[in-house]
Amino acid sequence: MKYFIKTYGCQMNVADSGGMEKGLLARGWERGESVDGAGLVVVNTCSVREHAESKAMSFVGELVERRQKGEDFRIIVAGCMAERMKDTLKKRFPLVDLVVGAKDIERFAELIENVPGVIPADKKSEVSEPSGISAFVTIMRGCENFCSYCIVPYVRGPEVSRPADEIIEEITARAANGAKEVTLLGQNVNSYHGKSANGATAFPELLEKINAIPGIERIRFMTSHPKDAGDELIKAVTRLPKVCEHVHLPLQSGSDKILAAMNRGYTLAGYSKVVNALRAACPDVSITTDILIGFPGETQEDFEQTLRAVNDIQFDFIFAFKYSPRPGTAAAAKPDDVARDVKEKRHAAILSSLNGIATQKNATLLHTEQEVLVEEKRAGQWVGRTRTNKKVFFESVLVLTGKTVLVGIKRTKINSLYGTFIKIAG
Ligand code: 5AD
Ligand code: SF4
Repeated sequence: MKYFIKTYGCQMNVADSGGMEKGLLARGWERGESVDGAGLVVVNTCSVREHAESKAMSFVGELVERRQKGEDFRIIVAGCMAERMKDTLKKRFPLVDLVVGAKDIERFAELIENVPGVIPADKKSEVSEPSGISAFVTIMRGCENFCSYCIVPYVRGPEVSRPADEIIEEITARAANGAKEVTLLGQNVNSYHGKSANGATAFPELLEKINAIPGIERIRFMTSHPKDAGDELIKAVTRLPKVCEHVHLPLQSGSDKILAAMNRGYTLAGYSKVVNALRAACPDVSITTDILIGFPGETQEDFEQTLRAVNDIQFDFIFAFKYSPRPGTAAAAKPDDVARDVKEKRHAAILSSLNGIATQKNATLLHTEQEVLVEEKRAGQWVGRTRTNKKVFFESVLVLTGKTVLVGIKRTKINSLYGTFIKIAG
C-alpha cells in the first residue's frame, strides 16, 4: 500500500514530514509520488500566513471530493493548521480520518494506529535513516518569543530542545548513509539548550560536537534570532571549519517603533551591530533575512526606514512577506490598517531593491572559483551550493552527486550562479 505526503510551509515541516514517513515505512507502507494510487494521503499544513492555510485547506477539500466520488484512501491532516483548527477541520470535513496537530506530530506513528486500515498486518520493521546528501535535523521545537504577529508559539508550543546525544546519534547515522551536509532546524536555534550525559549543552557546544562527526562536511542552521545572536555564535561561525558562512537573521522591519510593536526585542542599531560584528569576523559571510510588510500601524515613513535598512545592510537575499492577521496573536487585536494595494506596492519596492543588491553582490563572484557541494542533476545540469548557500549550475559528464567540486563562475543572476566544472576538490 502506498502513502503520499503533501508538505506546506517551512523546513521544519519538511523535517516533520520525514519523521512521519519513517513511521509509515516501519508499518510496511511504500512511498508514492502522487495521490493517484495512494491508500493514505497526509497533508502537512502551515499556519504562518492566511494564504498558506487557504492553500492547504483547498487541497484537503479536493481530497474529500475525490473520496466522495468513490476513490478509496485515508486522509490525515497534520501540522500547524491542524493544531490551530482541529475542531473546525473535523466538523467541516467529516471524511478526514485523523487530525494530528503540530504539538502531537512526534506521536504520529502511534496515533495512526487508531485509523482503520492503516497498519498492513505484520509488517512492522526497523527503518534505516533516509539517504541524501543534505540532511535536515530538528534540534528544538516550539518558540516562546511571542512576536506579536506570529502564530508559531501557539501552534507549536513552548521551546523544547532535543538532547544533544540524540542529535549527534541521528547525524552520525545520516552521515553513514551518505549525508555530507546537515541543516539544524529550530525556530530560534541560538537559544538551544539540550540535555547531555554531562549536563547541559548550549548551541555553540552543539556545533562543536557536530563539527567532529566524520563524513559531515558542512553545517548550516536556521533560524537565528537577532536578540540572541551573540559573540559566541559569531565565534562558532568563524572558528569551526564545517560551519558554513551563511546566517539567516530575520530583521522584519527597519523601524524601531514597529520592531517594538512586534515585540522583537532589538532595535535597528542592535541588529546592525550583530551584522557588523559578523562581517568583521568573517568578511565573506552571506546574510539573508525576512521582512514583514504592512504590520498594523506601519506608516510610509516606517516603511522607508525598512527600505533604507535593506539598502544599507545589503542582504544576500530577502524573503519578503505581506502581513496577515493570525487569530489569537496580539497583533490580531489591532486593525489590519495597511491597505492591500499599499502592502503590494511596498512588497514590490523591497523586491526591486533586493534585485539590485543581490544582482550586484553576485556579480562580484564572476570569474571566481567556488567550492560547490553537488546535490543532484536537474535537466542535464548539476546543481549544488556554495558554502554561502548560493545555488550553482554547471555541466559535467562525471557523476558528481555528493562530491565537493570547484566551479569557475561565468554568469550570475539574482539568486543563482552558472559556471564551468574545474575539478573535484580535495
Ligand atoms: N503574516 C505574514 N508573515 C508572517 N511571518 C510570520 N507571521 C506572519 C504573519 N502573520 C513571516 C515572518 C517570519 C516568516 C517565517 O514568516 O517574516 O520570519
Ligand atoms: Fe513552519 Fe511556521 Fe508554517 Fe508552522 S506555521 S509550518 S512553523 S512556517
